[in-house]
Amino acid sequence: MTPDLLKQGAQRAAAHDPAVYQSTPTESGGRDASYGRIHTPGEVDVSHGRILYLEDVSVSFDGFKAINKLSLDIAPGELRCIIGPNGAGKTTMMDIITGKTRPDEGQVFFGSTIDLLRHNEPEIAQLGIGRKFQKPTVFEQLTVFENLELALKTPKGVKASMFFKLDSVQSDRLAEVLHTIHLADSVLTQAGKLSHGQKQWLEIGMLLMQDPKLLLLDEPVAGMTDHETERTAELFLTLKGKHSLMVVEHDMGFIKTISDIVTVLCDGSVLAQGTLDQVQSDERVIEVYLGR
Ligand SMILES: Nc1ncnc2c1ncn2[C@@H]1O[C@H](COP(=O)(O)OP(=O)(O)OP(=O)(O)O)[C@@H](O)[C@H]1O
Ligand SMILES: [Mg+2]
Repeated sequence: MTPDLLKQGAQRAAAHDPAVYQSTPTESGGRDASYGRIHTPGEVDVSHGRILYLEDVSVSFDGFKAINKLSLDIAPGELRCIIGPNGAGKTTMMDIITGKTRPDEGQVFFGSTIDLLRHNEPEIAQLGIGRKFQKPTVFEQLTVFENLELALKTPKGVKASMFFKLDSVQSDRLAEVLHTIHLADSVLTQAGKLSHGQKQWLEIGMLLMQDPKLLLLDEPVAGMTDHETERTAELFLTLKGKHSLMVVEHDMGFIKTISDIVTVLCDGSVLAQGTLDQVQSDERVIEVYLGR
C-alpha cells in the first residue's frame, strides 16, 4: 500500500468514529496544544560516539549481585544484541536504563550529558528511550489505528483523550509506522484479533509513534512463528540507523540475522563481546551459555 493510500485509510478511520477523533477548542480558542503532539525529545549529545553508556554499574537484591560492575556502551544507530543465560541480568540492566531499578553504584548516561540516574521512569521515556516488554500490552478492544493514535496522546485525562484529531504530520507518521510494522492492511482490525506476532509489532509501532532515540526490546520474538520471527528481523533491520536498538534474545537464529555486535552477559557483567562468530567460538561463552 502506498503512503497516500495509507493516509486515506487513516482519514477513513477518523471518519469512522468522529466522536473519538474530533478536537474541541480550548478556552483560549485554539486547539489544546498538547493534543497529539508528537513528542520531540531534546537533543542527545552523541558527539562522543555513544548514545548509551554504562560504567561499573552494580545492583544487589537481598545481598545477591544481579548486576556486577557492568560496563557497556552503544553507538548511535547501532543495533546491539544482548545474549546470556537465564538470570544473567539482561532484564535488570534494562530496568536500570529505564529508571525502574536504581543501581547501588555506577554511571548510566544517555549521550554524553544526560545522567539517567537523575531521572525517573516517565522522564526517561520522555527523553526518548522506549521499552518493549516481553508480553504485548496493546489495547485489545481498540483497533490497530486507535492503538497507534493513543500512543501520541499525553496523559490529559479522559475528556482530553476523547477529543483528539491527528494533524497531517501525525497522520503521515502513523501511515509510515503502519507500513513499517506490516499492519497497513489491518488498520481497522481490533487488536485483540491480531496474532501474537502482530500484537508485538503493534506494540513496537506504538513505541515508534513516539520516535524514540533508543529502543530496548526484551525477547521480542518469544512465542512468534518462524515467519513472524523472520519479518521481525526485517523490521529491526529497517529500524537500525534511524534508531539505536538494544535487543535481548535467546533465539540464536534471529540474533544471527540481525546482529552486528553481540554482548554476552553472565552473572551481571559482560563476559564477551564481538561478532556472533567471535562470541560463539569463545570457550567461556560455550561453557556458560551455548553448550557444546
Ligand atoms: N526485583 C528483584 N528482586 C529480587 N531479585 C531480582 C529482582 N529482579 C531480578 N532479580 C534477580 O536478578 C537476577 C537477574 O535477573 P534478570 O531477570 O535480569 O535475568 P535475565 O538475564 O533477564 O534472565 P532471563 O533470560 O531468564 O530473562 C535473577 O537471579 C533474578 O532472580
Ligand atoms: Mg529477562
